[in-house]
Amino acid sequence: MQKIKISGSLTSLRFLLFKYRKVLVVYDRKLENLAGQIGQDNQSLPIIAEEQYKTMETVMAVCRWLLSQKADKETLLLAVGGGVTTDIAGFAASIYKRGIRYANVPTTLLAMVDASIGGKTGVNLDSYKNMLGTVCQPEFTFIYPKALETLPQREMRNGAAEMLKTFIIKNRHNNYADALSVLKAPVDFKALEPLIEAAAKVKREIVCRDEFEKGPRRVLNLGHTYAHAIEWWQHTNPTENPALLSHGEAVAIGIVKAASLSADKGYCDESLPQQLKRDFESVGLPTEFPCPEEELAPALLQDKKITGKKINFVFIKRIGKVTVKKHEIRF
Ligand code: GLY
Repeated sequence: MQKIKISGSLTSLRFLLFKYRKVLVVYDRKLENLAGQIGQDNQSLPIIAEEQYKTMETVMAVCRWLLSQKADKETLLLAVGGGVTTDIAGFAASIYKRGIRYANVPTTLLAMVDASIGGKTGVNLDSYKNMLGTVCQPEFTFIYPKALETLPQREMRNGAAEMLKTFIIKNRHNNYADALSVLKAPVDFKALEPLIEAAAKVKREIVCRDEFEKGPRRVLNLGHTYAHAIEWWQHTNPTENPALLSHGEAVAIGIVKAASLSADKGYCDESLPQQLKRDFESVGLPTEFPCPEEELAPALLQDKKITGKKINFVFIKRIGKVTVKKHEIRF
């Protein structure tokens, strides 16, 4: 089972790394300082960790670098960065020599609670997000919350949506309400730490039960059917939507849409969509589609989770309880 360690000290990370004969570091080039502090003795490769470079070409470049560094089965590839970095490094590690070990040091809120937990790796194919990928569990995820202190507010909101999503799926100790109050700007980083840990652990529990997304893991797709369609729409209509929504922002819109479909079908109280809308807006997240819904049809019908016209869709029953049902996409 993937280990999750949260610590304010990089010494704990160095301790985790001792047991590997060789550690190679792939890092977001914006994090030179942090990568240097982690891996003084390790060879490292900076990458441009932007969505448009989340491609097979970047994965190939990492694989060629692994080869040049004589990486082998005794090597650990350590990814330092946000979700783009952990996805690229995880993918490269999973195919290089049919798989070497890798671990994550997520540096964004989104990566800490979501992208760095679980074995799904993926890169984009043209405008379709994560269309190519593998499933390969990381050895561990080391969460260093100090990395968040310099994160731009918009990037915090990106992760906020995934954190709130997690607590809509499982709401232990009223984490959802706590997260809402902590995530309002200015963010209280000390109070955020236990919530990051709680969200990461909920995700780990779910992925451990279902590594290959055969059943229970599907709940994590809450909000993502529409989110991926919005992201596809933005990339195919760049001039109509110059201010791109981030993944988390698209997820927030997707969750509100999922709540409204849930209310329409009688799965939840009809006040839930409005409540979620208010909650998300209170932490600065958008809740309205950037385009007419019909324009999302091609992407919804191309969704990886679709069979025929029916999709496994995550409906909300209440905060802390969701259900997956077949749902027909109609326009
Ligand atoms: N690596 C992200 C996931 O498995 O969901």
